[in-house]
Amino acid sequence: MARNKNVPRMLCRLVVFSMCVFITECRRTKRVIGGDEVACVLSFSKGTQIRVASLRNSSNSQHLCGATILTYNNALTAAHCVNNEPEDYYLQLNNYCNEGNHVPKATIINVVKHDQYKILSHVHDIAVLRIKLNFIGEIFDGSIIPSTSFGVSGKCTIYGYGNRDALNKGTTESLHSAEVKLISLDECTTSLGPYVAPKADSGMICAIGDGVDACQGDSGGPLICNGYIQGLSSYGLGCNVPKMPGVYTSVGAHLKWLKTICDI
Ligand SMILES: *[C@@H]1O[C@H](CO)[C@@H](O)[C@H](O)[C@H]1NC(C)=O
Repeated sequence: MARNKNVPRMLCRLVVFSMCVFITECRRTKRVIGGDEVACVLSFSKGTQIRVASLRNSSNSQHLCGATILTYNNALTAAHCVNNEPEDYYLQLNNYCNEGNHVPKATIINVVKHDQYKILSHVHDIAVLRIKLNFIGEIFDGSIIPSTSFGVSGKCTIYGYGNRDALNKGTTESLHSAEVKLISLDECTTSLGPYVAPKADSGMICAIGDGVDACQGDSGGPLICNGYIQGLSSYGLGCNVPKMPGVYTSVGAHLKWLKTICDI
């Protein structure tokens, strides 16, 4: 349909971590293929998109995953994005309109993964990063942590950085977005099957794009509904498979845990 041609091709989600275990080629590098480019923002106090950061490798600056700044001292990402030591990573705030080469960054002081996170079953795929921003002054506006979980019928937006090149050479530095709709775990299980779809107590949720293709990429980046972060890209099944939902860590399901970890 003509309409579908106009729909942005899509944020590529990072594919299944279990696949990555078996396929050495599989990289955690997130990749946004197509999608709407998000305009850069001039002020840290404006909206939520400025908070979407690129988690990078400290030794070669390679983009690895998405992350979201919650406060001056804390950011959120997927637990599977941070298997190494804190100093092996840093955050780069690429959605800030930088004049010259002054990209805001944050060092990572500590990583607090959810204690029930499990690599193979991808449950509770969430981690708080203790950060130190390399700039001072402007304050991020308000909190983007929701007070409750979102309903399962809402329209939300996923965000990420990444390249549009299927060969994964270099990354584009601009933020991209795509619209998705949350679906119930029952619907998700119908599509993904009982082994891949998340279970009720896993702290995970599913969302599906409308006429967009899922591919690799974007782990750890936020799913934002009505200005609040409700999910983190976690895993999906395959590339370019129509009607396949992606699986996200539910922020709402981890509010209690988050409140024990940071002052939000
Ligand atoms: C960062 O890159 C180096 C060199 O390519 C690699 O050895 C290391 O494992 C990478 N670290 C992370 C956290 O990906």
